[in-house]
Amino acid sequence: MGCNNPNLTQAMTDVQSVRSSSAISRWSSYIEISKRRSSSAEITATNFINAAAINDGSKILDLGCGHGRITELLVEKVPSIELVGVDMTRHLLENFVVRSGINKCKIELICADIAKLPIDDGCFDAVVSSRVFQYLPDPICGVREGVRVLKPGGRFVVSIPNRLNVVKYLTYRQKLYSPFEVRDWFRRCGLENIEYGSMCFFPSTTRWRRLASFLEGVAKIPFVKYLGGNVIVKGEKKMGTRVREAPANSRESSHPFRSARTGLQSLLRTS
Ligand SMILES: C[S@@+](CC[C@H](N)C(=O)[O-])C[C@H]1O[C@@H](n2cnc3c(N)ncnc32)[C@H](O)[C@@H]1O
Repeated sequence: MGCNNPNLTQAMTDVQSVRSSSAISRWSSYIEISKRRSSSAEITATNFINAAAINDGSKILDLGCGHGRITELLVEKVPSIELVGVDMTRHLLENFVVRSGINKCKIELICADIAKLPIDDGCFDAVVSSRVFQYLPDPICGVREGVRVLKPGGRFVVSIPNRLNVVKYLTYRQKLYSPFEVRDWFRRCGLENIEYGSMCFFPSTTRWRRLASFLEGVAKIPFVKYLGGNVIVKGEKKMGTRVREAPANSRESSHPFRSARTGLQSLLRTS
C-alpha cells in the first residue's frame, strides 16, 4: 500500500484472494445483524481514539474493518483522518458505509487477509482492530503484520470479546481470549508501553447508550476492569525500530498499494 497515494481513495483490490465462498456467506449477514451506532460501537470508537492517540491527519489502518461500523464513528469524531480498511470479505467492503470526502477523511479499502497484508512497512500512525482477532487461526501472525506496517512509535489497539466476561463466556461461540492473553501477543511481537483492560460493561444497546457509556466508569475499579464484554489492549512500536524494505519478489509489483515505496485513560494497566 502506498502511504503517499492520496488518489487511491476507495480503491478496492483483490490482492489476496477471498478465502472461500463459505467465508463470504458467513459474513454477508453481518451487515444486517451488526447494529450501527450501538453503545459498543460508540465505546469502541472512543477508546480507539484515546488509546491510539488518533488526531486530525492521523494515518490509520483498520484490520478487519467489515462494512465500516467503527470507521463511521471515527470519521465523525476526528473528521480528517486517513484510513485504510482491510477486510477479506469483499461484500462488506462493497457496502462500506463511509465514503472518502465525508468530512475531510480519506478512505481506501483493500480486500486482503490480515496475515499477509499487501502494504509496505512503516506506513501508519495507528493500527486498530475491532472484533476480528478471535477469528484468526494465528493471532500472533496478525499482530506481527500490524506491527510491521506501523511507523516507529505508532500505536496498535486491538479489541475482541472477553473470555473473563461471564455473559461472553456462557454465550459466545467463537474462541475467546482474556486481556492477559492479548497482552502476551503484544509482548511477543515486541510492542512496548502495553496497556490492557476491558470495556463495554453493559450489554450492547442502541436504546440505552448513555447508560452504557456511564457504566464505563466501572473500568477504573481494580480487578473489575478486566471483566467487561470486550478486551482492549494497546501497545506501541519501539522508536528507532528499523523499517525493513520488503523483498522485491514478495509483493506483486503490479499492485498499486504494493509498488509505492515509500491512555486508554486510566482504565488500563501498564505492563
Ligand atoms: C465481527 S466482524 C467485525 C467488523 C468490524 N471490525 C466491526 O467491529 O464492526 C469480523 C470481520 O473480520 C473479517 N476477517 C476475519 N478474518 C479475517 C482475515 N483473516 N483477514 C481479513 N479480514 C478478516 C471478516 O471479514 C469480518 O468483516
